Amino acid sequence: MIAPSILTANNMHLATNIKESINCGITRFHIDIMDGHFVPNLSYGPELIKDLKHEFPNIQIEIHLMSNNLEQMIPLFVKTGCDLLEFHIEVSKDNTSKWIKLLKQSHIKSGIVLKPSTPVSTIAPYLNSIDQLLLMTVTPGFGGQKFQSDSSDRIKQAKTLIIQHNTYIPIEVDGGINNETVRIAKNAGADIFVAGSYIYNQKSISNQIRELKSVIE
Ligand code: DX5
Ligand code: ZN
Repeated sequence: MIAPSILTANNMHLATNIKESINCGITRFHIDIMDGHFVPNLSYGPELIKDLKHEFPNIQIEIHLMSNNLEQMIPLFVKTGCDLLEFHIEVSKDNTSKWIKLLKQSHIKSGIVLKPSTPVSTIAPYLNSIDQLLLMTVTPGFGGQKFQSDSSDRIKQAKTLIIQHNTYIPIEVDGGINNETVRIAKNAGADIFVAGSYIYNQKSISNQIRELKSVIE
């Protein structure tokens, strides 16, 4: 599955760009929330998610929460009607199970995100309770970065760990995904591919989505 990130899309053309993506078969968007603390950048607030769900009720919205302030931000975004919320384990630490439980009670799927510098093994205690694992393939904060070369090994490690736990969790990758890196990530075992600048900063959104789909389908 391709989950587009609109982070670097032209904000003045957001609705048109989203509609074009949906017309190309996109059923889920990956929305990057940045609060200027966990990463040195700012993006959207809860209103955008509410508007998206109101305008496109059948489209899944997953939130990639890049914030140090989970106590305030998770409850705030739970209220938006999002389908899945992914938070960073570097922030949640000992409270990880608490947030998974809160999301479950709120009927929202939970995902844990790992920065490229965080060992894949840190996810082990949570593999039987989360719905998705997001492996960052760039340092979070900005669109348009280069896919890190050790990502393939990390995806394979995660896949092995998931199998060892007798469970199935889709592995998502985020950062620097294009028509070449999508193949590398897929061959390593990734299932969901976030792509931002490859889709929204080229000539044709439809062509870019078709190009990615032709590699993974
Ligand atoms: C980075 C974000 C990504 C990113 C994807 O912090 O999590 O979702 O914007 O953009 P590209 O595909 O341009 O790397
Ligand atoms: Zn993201």
